[in-house]
Amino acid sequence: MLVTNRKLQEDAQKRRYAVGAFNVYDMESVQAVAKAAELERSPAIIATTEGAIEYAGHEFIAELIELATKRSKITYSMHLDHGKDMNIIRNCIRLGYTSVMIDASHYEFKKNIQITKSVVSLAHRKGASVEAELGTIGGVEDSVSSKKILLTDPRDAKEFVEKTGCDTLAVAIGTSHGAYKFASRSKLAIDRLKEIRKAVDVPLVLHGASGIPSWVVRKAKLFGAVLGKAKGVSESDIKAAIANGISKVNIDSDLRLTFDAAVREVLKKHPEEFDPRHILGPAKDAVTDMVRYKMKLFGSSGKAR
Ligand code: G3H
Ligand code: 13P
Ligand code: ZN
Repeated sequence: MLVTNRKLQEDAQKRRYAVGAFNVYDMESVQAVAKAAELERSPAIIATTEGAIEYAGHEFIAELIELATKRSKITYSMHLDHGKDMNIIRNCIRLGYTSVMIDASHYEFKKNIQITKSVVSLAHRKGASVEAELGTIGGVEDSVSSKKILLTDPRDAKEFVEKTGCDTLAVAIGTSHGAYKFASRSKLAIDRLKEIRKAVDVPLVLHGASGIPSWVVRKAKLFGAVLGKAKGVSESDIKAAIANGISKVNIDSDLRLTFDAAVREVLKKHPEEFDPRHILGPAKDAVTDMVRYKMKLFGSSGKAR
């Protein structure tokens, strides 16, 4: 069953856990997230970026998500991650997405408010909820160039939420996208998060939350991946963020790395293998396991309504 992010996060906020938002691109990733949610009896947010939509085709990926979720009793949301293009946002709403993110955080404050407000009025007419972003999360995404981290200002957050009517808010507290988040130790601005939490009451979102587990990096490298000093958010930081008001945690890189390591393992160990099902099948299972691991970490296992 599909519901809005707002509904999922309100429950998470009340019962003090976080819902994972997992990025998908294809049949394998959609099935992996849905299978993990069913096995864990956990709610889940299935997220597509504009890059994923371009790769898979919008109607195609939306139909896949719909198929994987509609007969289930588990509560899911179909979510647009980092929406920037108004045409894509409109299409999401037409295709039955229950939530869209408008990422206008690269614009100055007033313009961010103006753009976010227009998306809120569009989405609310169709019952979809809206996630907005304030402050900047670092790292590189397909459609956005590298940004410097600029922590969210709590006073701005209050004004922003009041003026835009957004349902949930992505905050910048020191994370960045991708596999290279910190030069040394993982460190989140939990004090800043506490101040933001006090200033606004909408559910909060943590982007760039992958842990980049060392065992996955080691496995990928063992089978040929070339990775630098990959470093993610520690599990204790994730728990502290959830304890202080984060109710949606975004994970993409951990799933990419997991998939990559598993594909490399099959190809390295079985160079004679050329059946795509034998190459992608183990990768799909490995992603399922990683999503289950995250659901346990976020406390969402067993929380599906
Ligand atoms: O922020 C989300 C992703 O980690 C970047 O995804 O490469 O599909 O834009 P993308
Ligand atoms: P990671 O790169 O840490 O997985 O972040 C994912 C994300 O924020 C998607 O919006
Ligand atoms: Zn993100």
